[in-house]
Amino acid sequence: MKILVINGPNINLLGTREPEIYGTTTLLDIEKEIEEYSKTFQNVQVEFFQSNHEGDIVDKIQNAKDIYDGIIINPAAYTHTSVAIADAIKAVNIPTVEIHLSNIQSREDFRKTSLTAPSCMGQIAGFGKDGYLAGLFCLVKYLEK
Ligand code: DQA
Repeated sequence: MKILVINGPNINLLGTREPEIYGTTTLLDIEKEIEEYSKTFQNVQVEFFQSNHEGDIVDKIQNAKDIYDGIIINPAAYTHTSVAIADAIKAVNIPTVEIHLSNIQSREDFRKTSLTAPSCMGQIAGFGKDGYLAGLFCLVKYLEK
């Protein structure tokens, strides 16, 4: 099965970006860890995409149809603003898990609302980079059923 891991704006700056909130691990390190973890399952392939542009993320989700079996997405700031990404996830009907490194419920009020989460199977937030591994675990278990 093929899983697409999408990261939104500013996630490319992980490592140096507000390390007290997001940790010191880079996106490349996280992607390597996800890749390693994916090998513990049989027949799971992961691919990665990061963009700072809403439309590019919408295009990627639209083009995922018939290619990927599942999506793991951290829409980053677009979580709180993007009807377009929420609609794209619904449109392609690919099982999708939303990830946040930080616990968005314990931060500023504007982060407490996710426009994209209702289009997803579920959301994992607050566990740092391990959230991506947990998301992969949940998605693979669901898709194997
Ligand atoms: C984030 C939380 C968002 O509110 C923020 O805009 C991000 C990262 C997280 O992973 O905790 O860029 O999605």
